[in-house]
Amino acid sequence: MLLRTHSISLRYGDGDTLTYAVRNVTMEVPATGFFGIMGPSGSGKSSLLYLMSGLKRPTEGTVHYGDQCVSAMSSRDLAILRRKEFGFVFQQPFLLNYLTARENVLTAASQGVAATTSVDEILSSLSILHLADRVPAHLSGGEKQRIAVARAMVNTPRVIFADEPTAALDRTNGLAVMELLKSYRDKGLVIVVTHDETMLAGADCVYHMDDGQLHHIARPAA
Ligand SMILES: Nc1ncnc2c1ncn2[C@@H]1O[C@H](COP(=O)(O)OP(=O)(O)O)[C@@H](O)[C@H]1O
Ligand SMILES: [Mg+2]
Repeated sequence: MLLRTHSISLRYGDGDTLTYAVRNVTMEVPATGFFGIMGPSGSGKSSLLYLMSGLKRPTEGTVHYGDQCVSAMSSRDLAILRRKEFGFVFQQPFLLNYLTARENVLTAASQGVAATTSVDEILSSLSILHLADRVPAHLSGGEKQRIAVARAMVNTPRVIFADEPTAALDRTNGLAVMELLKSYRDKGLVIVVTHDETMLAGADCVYHMDDGQLHHIARPAA
């Protein structure tokens, strides 16, 4: 299994203000596939994703990525790991307004990866090459999020972490963005957090969170 958490918790505050955003979660996911984490607002989904991706450190427990102990790495090594191996998609696309879609994707490319040709290959494979020369002001919300997905893929990461990538979109655009993310399931691991289970149709596995705990695991029919 590529990514493993062992009894991780994330605590905020102490005494009267003590809250567990994540409580004693043990899980493991393989190197490829499309996995969902769902649960109501405040259940700890984002916190769990941040712990798995090294954006936050657990207050208890350990996170392993391959043979590396993520939760024990220095901040510098963590930053390098994230840049080399992980791609991120958030609820908002966070594009730079003065750059075209192509330039926005190119900006995220590591040295050596880049060149406009490989960016255009990604845009083409996601069927969004026709958006390449537009600036964000001339893109719809759904189009901007498609560009954000392309940006997350530009360094061919081993893992893509997506936190509520469809929450700001209508259903049609939401499903289209999920299809782009799903298309990466054979190339690497895709983990998507959402409160909308209908966005996770066809996932290899869906984890349910409630009150910081991972309650049960469902394997959707299709
Ligand atoms: N920086 C913080 N300080 C204190 N509590 C926090 C902080 N971030 C998150 N929490 C709490 O942790 C719990 C889980 O939050 P979060 O992971 O954002 O849930 P979700 O993504 O499922 O909405 C919530 O009760 C939230 O209020
Ligand atoms: Mg969240």
